[in-house]
Amino acid sequence: MKEKEILWTGRTAEKPNEKAFAFQASIRIDKRLVQDDIRGTRVHTAMLARQGIIPQDTAVVLDAELLRIAEELSNGELTVDESAEDIHSFVETELTRRLGDAGRMVHAGRSRNDQVALDFKLHLKHTVTELCEEIKALMSALLDKAEEYVDALMPGYTHLQKAQPVTLGFHLTAWVCALERDLSRFHDTLFRMDECPLGSGALAGSGLPLDREKTAVNLGFRAPTLNAMDSVADRDFAVELAADAAICQTHLSRFCEDIILWASAEFGFLNLSERWSTGSSIMPQKKNPDFAELVRGKTGRVVGNLVALFTILKGIPYAYDKDLQEDKEALFDSLDTISDCLQIFRGMITASSFNRERMEAACIDGFSEATDAADYLVRKGLPFRNAHEIAAHIVRDCINDGQSCIGERTLEELRTRSLLFEADIFAMLTPRACMNARRTPGGTALDEVRRQIAVLRERIHSTGTA
Ligand code: ARG
Repeated sequence: MKEKEILWTGRTAEKPNEKAFAFQASIRIDKRLVQDDIRGTRVHTAMLARQGIIPQDTAVVLDAELLRIAEELSNGELTVDESAEDIHSFVETELTRRLGDAGRMVHAGRSRNDQVALDFKLHLKHTVTELCEEIKALMSALLDKAEEYVDALMPGYTHLQKAQPVTLGFHLTAWVCALERDLSRFHDTLFRMDECPLGSGALAGSGLPLDREKTAVNLGFRAPTLNAMDSVADRDFAVELAADAAICQTHLSRFCEDIILWASAEFGFLNLSERWSTGSSIMPQKKNPDFAELVRGKTGRVVGNLVALFTILKGIPYAYDKDLQEDKEALFDSLDTISDCLQIFRGMITASSFNRERMEAACIDGFSEATDAADYLVRKGLPFRNAHEIAAHIVRDCINDGQSCIGERTLEELRTRSLLFEADIFAMLTPRACMNARRTPGGTALDEVRRQIAVLRERIHSTGTA
């Protein structure tokens, strides 16, 4: 970058050396904002002309050239000059190189402080919307699987111990509920950040007669921001999005943990497709769940980026400080990572098949029907605490007699513990009967899970369309 192309050379007689200049430059990170920067500059320039701040005919020429630059960048005729300080300098310098003095008019009434806040928000508005589509695609893929395996019995776990029989459809639906909250969190953040900072200048607004309302509307925002100082100091939207990403990534990480367990020989519930597994360089027999492990591992950087943003912000005085430049690298990394992970996870789960027989067989030992035995006695009028104790004693009886489920006992044996037991108890103790008995909203019964799936499908459809 030539000295005259640096936007602020007037003030300082001496310049940073090359290494120091590169240290404070941000082009490597903010070059992805180029189309957003051009879009903001076009709307700003048109407003300057409407307000009589720059000549109308100059604005026409500027707009045509900005459009040309945008097109040349898209088709590869022009590339971003990485020796520029930042993307704002690049666009203004390129315009001035082509148009001379006209290019020098576009920065009236704005500063790079409101400009970068604008570009960042514009960029996030479309990239986060795309990310929401990724989340929706994963939700749909998981709901397809949930439907396919809606009646596939498997143990539900607490403390990683078999707890109560559920279905794979129910388990996958639980994951989708978490993703649905992620989706709504991103949408909430998009709503809150939908205010346009342009026209806030360096921190205090402008003495020029800018039309901030019109600028905001023309850039697709709900309204202009209220206070100029807040507009250039605020990075809440970056923190919120980083938090939204960290929560979503943490969900993916937990799903991956389930997958890794299920794919182990010990569980044997899930057969990862060979395309979504890797081998070992030494052990010829290995088929490893590397993709799931790596999605889990990437959670480290996504949570780290959130902590980085908080740390950057916590000590900086109002309004703008250069520390804020560090915001984009952290957030872009989080959003890039989660976008990759959502796609990888979807590919992996779509290609997976589950072993119904293994999952159902795993429901048998572990006495996961014990709660249902207690519920049977409650239905016959016994207080739950007493019923719980009786069922626990029966489990102990089974263990002492080497039996693997309550259904292996005879009616006479059960009646030694409670005379309320009758022959109908046995049909109620199979894993399928236990699963289907839980008809409460949120429960495991087939029709109830089908209802949950339908509700989630409707939410995927309606989120973001309001
Ligand atoms: N590259 C800067 C950033 O990302 C742009 C704003 C620069 N403003 C300034 N006063 N130096 O934050």
